[in-house]
Amino acid sequence: MRLSIKAFAEMKSAGNKIAMVTAYDFTSAKILDAAGIPIMLVGDSLGNVILGYESTIPVTLEDMIHHAKAVVKGSQTAHVVVDMPFLSYRTGNIDALRNSGRFLQEAGVQSVKLEGGVEVSDTVRHIVNAGMPVMGHIGLTPQSLNKFGTYKVQGRSPKSAKRLIDDAVALQEAGAYALVLELVPSKLAKIITDKLTIPTIGIGAGPNCDGQVLVFHDLVGLTDGFKHSRRYANLDHNITSAVTQYIYDVQHGAFPSESESFMVDESVIQSVIKQVNSSS
Ligand code: KIV
Repeated sequence: MRLSIKAFAEMKSAGNKIAMVTAYDFTSAKILDAAGIPIMLVGDSLGNVILGYESTIPVTLEDMIHHAKAVVKGSQTAHVVVDMPFLSYRTGNIDALRNSGRFLQEAGVQSVKLEGGVEVSDTVRHIVNAGMPVMGHIGLTPQSLNKFGTYKVQGRSPKSAKRLIDDAVALQEAGAYALVLELVPSKLAKIITDKLTIPTIGIGAGPNCDGQVLVFHDLVGLTDGFKHSRRYANLDHNITSAVTQYIYDVQHGAFPSESESFMVDESVIQSVIKQVNSSS
């Protein structure tokens, strides 16, 4: 049985922090689920870490559905939330409903996440009213990179801080069940977290949010990471040394060994040799 959005409201009330991590494929979803992650985000950051794009903007709805299906198949207990990609919810509420519906129907996720504040709150309300839980995302919203110019911390002026608070309140009022705060000064994140009844999940937003999210590849050390991320393993080094050893073993006949090979009865071999010799 998967965790529902009710569990996250209860975690906030009880003061239990929420650990969220991104997942993009069957195998990592299986590992994360077994490790006890309560919520996995099929982030459109897959554009950067899986597809090699420079931003999340080229990621399509079909890309997201494809990866979300794999994550749902790999997990059993975690709640799976998926990012609605660039423009998939900004061209009107009907498009937003249709596209979010595809994620629940075709991929089997439990909720969708979309970027933006006051300006998307009406869309959030429509999706929630249609029975689909929505997670908001404010602060640095990577799909608007061309508007921001660079990936930089938001809410550093009184006007922009006030705007973030208004955005957070508007999303909560529209029915969002949780809110990602990305690249927000930690004291501002605390003000927002204290003001809201729904949980906040921070990334580069300090320790006072109700939860944290990390990109899987940053967490396990497959990427260089950022000031606000932390490596809990160095899989890049482990993979490099494993592959280097494999190349060496193949080149020196050390892989595969007899025990890694398949046997057949000696009589079969003798009969094959006989047939080969007689036909030549
Ligand atoms: O796409 C993503 O990985 C995200 C997280 C950074 C919150 O939106």
